[in-house]
Amino acid sequence: MTEVRHFLDLDRIPGDVLRRILDLAAACKRGEALGGAPLAGRSLAMIFEKPSTRTRVSFEVAIAQLGGSAVVLTPTEMQIGRGETIADTARVLSRYVHAVMMRTNDPEKLAELARHATIPVINGLTDRSHPCQLMADVMTFEELKGPIAGRTVAWTGDGNNMTLTWAQAAARFGFALRIASPPELALPEDELAWAREEGANIFTTTNPAEAAEGADCVVTDTWVSMGDAQAERRQRLLDPYRVDEALMRRAEDDAIFLHCLPAHREEEVSTGVMDGPQSAVWDEAENRLHAQKAILAWCMGAVPA
Ligand code: CP
Ligand code: NVA
Repeated sequence: MTEVRHFLDLDRIPGDVLRRILDLAAACKRGEALGGAPLAGRSLAMIFEKPSTRTRVSFEVAIAQLGGSAVVLTPTEMQIGRGETIADTARVLSRYVHAVMMRTNDPEKLAELARHATIPVINGLTDRSHPCQLMADVMTFEELKGPIAGRTVAWTGDGNNMTLTWAQAAARFGFALRIASPPELALPEDELAWAREEGANIFTTTNPAEAAEGADCVVTDTWVSMGDAQAERRQRLLDPYRVDEALMRRAEDDAIFLHCLPAHREEEVSTGVMDGPQSAVWDEAENRLHAQKAILAWCMGAVPA
């Protein structure tokens, strides 16, 4: 039996496969790949335990444009909400659809789904990681600035699911990552171990200016992720980590600003940077659609492994 092509985390998929998915996404955006309804007759189930705008719409539109269809589910409407196990849900969905995407708080639920599904499982965000987003982020960087290998990305803000996935991407795509977070909200050092063992160049600091110095890209995320408690404490600790015009001046003159969105102007990013000439956030959001098509085509076997 051929191995099921799950898209669970960047550390679970070889770098050459991720590179091919990215190339496919770029070709798809140029209109040079995935024409002619390659996923006709295929269905995707999407389980959302948390809100979503981009992930939901981009997956739903992506599969429709590839000729397939999507079923959107929320646990309160499913029997999961009444105690049916994730394992049994995986077994049943595997008989109806060709892949399942899940957005959940607990990465273990996603792993459980993948253990019991006989179809590909896609990580649509957990409290730990957000790999689909990083595919769009790397795609956006390369579209605007050329190959990301050897370049420098500065992260400033909360040490969260996006930070960890950027660290995994640094290992997979060969760029330097500088992470600035307050000590209280920094990503635990052991979460960086895999990326460092893979040879990733990752530097951590508590000083956002040090992280941004000479960077090719400055990236941040909301200060209060879905499910986070203590919003006021987080806002107080993260206030010095806002991306503003002064911080962008530390970076290269042609550096871009990325944010997975949703953004909170005058919290993690100033209005001027968010809506300014260095901001690539709308291209980044659009690229979710193209990246999702490539991920779906790979997971569903429409392209070679
Ligand atoms: N960036 C992202 O995943 O956005 P949504 O939460 O709207 O899906
Ligand atoms: N860190 C954010 C990302 C949203 C796409 C969250 O988990 O809420």
